[in-house]
Amino acid sequence: MAPMAVDYSLYLVTDSTPAILGDKDLVAVVKAAVEGGATIVQYRDKTSDTAELVRVAKQLHQVTKAAGVPFLINDRVDVALAAGVEGVHVGQDDMDLKTARKLLGPDAIIGITANSLEEALDAAGDGADYLGIGTVFATPTKENTKSIIGTAGVRDILSDLHLCGFGGIQTVAIGGINASNVQRVMYQCASPTKDLDGVAVVSAIIASQDPKAAAHNLRDLLSRPPPFAFTAHHVQLSRNDIIARVPTIIARMASRKPLCHNMTNLVVQNFAANVALAIGASPIMSNNGLEAGDLAALGGALVVNMGTTTPDIRSNHLKALAAYNAVGGPVVFDPVGAGATQQRREGVKALMAGGYFDVIKGNEGEIRTVSGAHGVKQHGVDSGASQLTLKDRITLVKATAERESNVVLMSGVIDVISDGVRTFTISNGHKYLGEITGSGCTLGTTIASVLAVEREDKLLAAVAGILMYEIASERAAGRDDVKGPGTFVPAFIDELYRIREECVRGDGTWIEAAKLESA
Ligand SMILES: *[C@@H]1O[C@H](CO)[C@@H](O)[C@H](O)[C@H]1NC(C)=O
Ligand SMILES: *[C@@H]1O[C@H](CO)[C@@H](O)[C@H](O)[C@H]1NC(C)=O
Repeated sequence: MAPMAVDYSLYLVTDSTPAILGDKDLVAVVKAAVEGGATIVQYRDKTSDTAELVRVAKQLHQVTKAAGVPFLINDRVDVALAAGVEGVHVGQDDMDLKTARKLLGPDAIIGITANSLEEALDAAGDGADYLGIGTVFATPTKENTKSIIGTAGVRDILSDLHLCGFGGIQTVAIGGINASNVQRVMYQCASPTKDLDGVAVVSAIIASQDPKAAAHNLRDLLSRPPPFAFTAHHVQLSRNDIIARVPTIIARMASRKPLCHNMTNLVVQNFAANVALAIGASPIMSNNGLEAGDLAALGGALVVNMGTTTPDIRSNHLKALAAYNAVGGPVVFDPVGAGATQQRREGVKALMAGGYFDVIKGNEGEIRTVSGAHGVKQHGVDSGASQLTLKDRITLVKATAERESNVVLMSGVIDVISDGVRTFTISNGHKYLGEITGSGCTLGTTIASVLAVEREDKLLAAVAGILMYEIASERAAGRDDVKGPGTFVPAFIDELYRIREECVRGDGTWIEAAKLESA
């Protein structure tokens, strides 16, 4: 182990290629970056000759030494020795770690790239000081990117490192990390047993016109959780707590009239808007990503519905997702038909890599696709009909929510919902919901609207939305004037409205119909 305590939080990797560095001077850029707050620097240059590498390394080392920041060389142990720097970073194809250690001595900082659990365990066993785990996101800066593992892949490696007795090794995530995703990376990569120690960035600083400000901004972002961070997982939530609190939450929604921003296709638009109005939300339909920032500022929630997928729609979804994530505005993801086509599987992947979803809701096939979409390969295939037992569904939902640090709902005759720690089943609802178009989408609208007013406990908010929705369907279906799906729809909208009015009056008896169990 290195003798000094190294701060890995903002790990800068240099890049001298014109596409990234531009016409800036690398030494000036690194100087600005450490002034801005980079805590460790790796000099990476795959093209210059040895003499040039040593010359530049010495110059950079002057700058980092003055700032008290450790300086490492990528791959070239000979250059590290010649320049007398603090250590090296070796890739999987570079010199092996034990040889590097032998040459550089016990005090050198030696890190290695790990793309898989095997690589991480080997490196930890061989005495690496830290691991650069990735690639998190697709990035143009590194050419031989072996595979994208996402935040979920990083998280799995972290928890397995702990499990295998390497909980103490330092780790940074690498690949496509910048100001727009750094907080999410720290948040979603953290496993219950092991956190990331930092992030490695390249172009987010090197390509910036103001590297000092870029580094400063990243440090600032790293100092706090993302606006959407969710800490209620460990708050006890019993069935009775839910029963007691839901009517008040619905009443609050009715008084605030949160904006429910719905990005989707035009099918059943009228019905969805009516549901939003009935529950006390203000619907707005906008598929234009460019106005999402303004809408996000209004304090409402976003529903991203994958009803139609084209690259154009996806880019609008990603823009809106970023806008809501930036202010902590809740986002519900409805991955409609997620596993049905390659296009849709890719859509799910791109959306999940592109931002944070507070709640992901879908049927069994959709949630199975979601669970396999993000670097974790074991659940990759989708299927139409139910193939899982209730126990398996509970396990899958809980694991997916834990991995994404969010809330996952798998709808069905028995809904399963979890935030990774607390899991419930809900058996309300009526079969007419399955006989009308748009019932899945409008459930998303309802959950999003509740989330807009109950941000502390997202699981509680989602459960409140489901109960309101499903109990309204039971009440509607039980009415004498309802003879089938056609007469059901207006009655359902009426019952949503009536439940809301009852809550406003302080009458929460409707919630006694809840068939809710802690799983
Ligand atoms: C940040 O990184 C992500 C993922 O690599 C990328 O899609 C996005 O465009 C980047 N954003 C900026 C502002 O560079
Ligand atoms: C919300 O979602 C539905 C379902 O896809 C969509 O058709 C509708 O246009 C949206 N509703 C509103 C009010 O924006």
